[in-house]
Amino acid sequence: MNIKASTKIYGIFGHPVGHSLSPVMHNSAFKALHLDSVYVAFDIQPRDLESAARAIKPLGIAGVNITIPHKESMTFFLDKISPEATLTGAVNTVKNENGKLLGYNTDVGGFLRAIKEDLGLHPNGLKVALLGAGGASRAVLSALCMNESSRIYVMNRTYDKAKRLVSEFKKSFKDFSIEAVSLEDKTGVENALSISDLLVNATSAGMEGIDPIEIPLESLSKESMVYDLVYKPRETSLIQRAKELGLKASGGLSMLLYQGAESFEIWTGEIAPVEVMKKVIE
Ligand code: ATR
Repeated sequence: MNIKASTKIYGIFGHPVGHSLSPVMHNSAFKALHLDSVYVAFDIQPRDLESAARAIKPLGIAGVNITIPHKESMTFFLDKISPEATLTGAVNTVKNENGKLLGYNTDVGGFLRAIKEDLGLHPNGLKVALLGAGGASRAVLSALCMNESSRIYVMNRTYDKAKRLVSEFKKSFKDFSIEAVSLEDKTGVENALSISDLLVNATSAGMEGIDPIEIPLESLSKESMVYDLVYKPRETSLIQRAKELGLKASGGLSMLLYQGAESFEIWTGEIAPVEVMKKVIE
């Protein structure tokens, strides 16, 4: 790597950030396209987010990704926010465009491209059972609502949180069929699964060290598919069980890849070298 005075700086703001795959993914893309740019990880404590955000302009940082726990709070320090980031209430990508900070949420597009490439699905008219009511779930819900899924069940351990999320989205999508389901409501869960074309896990359950959710996958129809946002381990027990039942299923590495590709394209205006990026994160 040949870093010069002209080298553009990109990075990620998060805490913790040491295990992020974004630096290798973006640096390999810069290298593949011979761009004079570098991507570094900034471990930013929540109390320091504002000063870090304010430093982007004077330091001339060209763009940053935003990850846990800053995706929501970062929205307060930007000059303009894209429609999908506004709907989601979170940004994961910031571009410094001539001294203006523009915020985007590429998790939304990343999810859409992941289900298209991995499962051949388009959200239009799709019936979806969505596990979780946190930040990741909000991005998936935005993607589904903005692309006219026909029915969405938001299923969560804390029922109140699912209900709040649903009523918030219903304000923007009045005629949509979005329903909250408690994970404790066995019949409600079975019913939602039996109707759904796609089950999405947007909770952290199933991640390394966290038990998976006990979901009656048998209630899904034989044509249904499963997408798990978790990518560590590469094949979660949810994905394994779905495959054992003969269902098409895919894990979250593709969403990580495509959200990164979209950020790269926003920053550079170049088509992201997804094959190169995929290889390094795999
Ligand atoms: P993220 O930004 O990754 O979505 P989050 O906003 O903290 O993180 O949301 C985590 C989601 O995973 C929540 O929906 C949470 O359920 P609760 O609202 O009941 O807390 C869900 N979750 C995490 N661990 C879980 C588990 N072991 N079983 C079921 N749901 C879980």
